[in-house]
Amino acid sequence: MSAFVDTQEQRVQLEKTLNELKPVKGSLMMAMQKAQEIYGYLPREIQVRIAEILDMPLEKVYGIATFYTQFHLNKPGKYKVGVCMGTACYVRGAGELLDRVSQITGIPAGATSEDGMYTVEATRCIGCCGLAPLITVGEEVYGNIGVKDVDGIMAKYKE
Ligand code: FES
Repeated sequence: MSAFVDTQEQRVQLEKTLNELKPVKGSLMMAMQKAQEIYGYLPREIQVRIAEILDMPLEKVYGIATFYTQFHLNKPGKYKVGVCMGTACYVRGAGELLDRVSQITGIPAGATSEDGMYTVEATRCIGCCGLAPLITVGEEVYGNIGVKDVDGIMAKYKE
């Protein structure tokens, strides 16, 4: 895994955000969400900065980062592929879709491919049950699909 490097702009933005939130009681979650918006994930280096600036124990930041699935500790792949495993999608064959996505990308749910191209996630219901079963790639939703459609969808996300 490559070392964490951020830009001057990200650093300035993070410090400004954290300093604004510091006086606000109970703002740790929000600070972490904002930090994740800036960086796309919450690597250890950023958790340390949050803890330092907000004057919190690092364990507390780390505890929240690992407890809530909304926080990502590792850099996500270029393409985030989600397979909805909510009930409606599951009963309509989402498991097979996930298997095929994993075969194509070479990684299981929850992982990021070594080349940094894909992150595969088994998600909860995303509120589009009428389209079940479905997969998402970034902001795109592909619904009412079968396992035979997965190759064609994934072929669009190779570069
Ligand atoms: S169960 Fe998949 S969108 Fe609701």
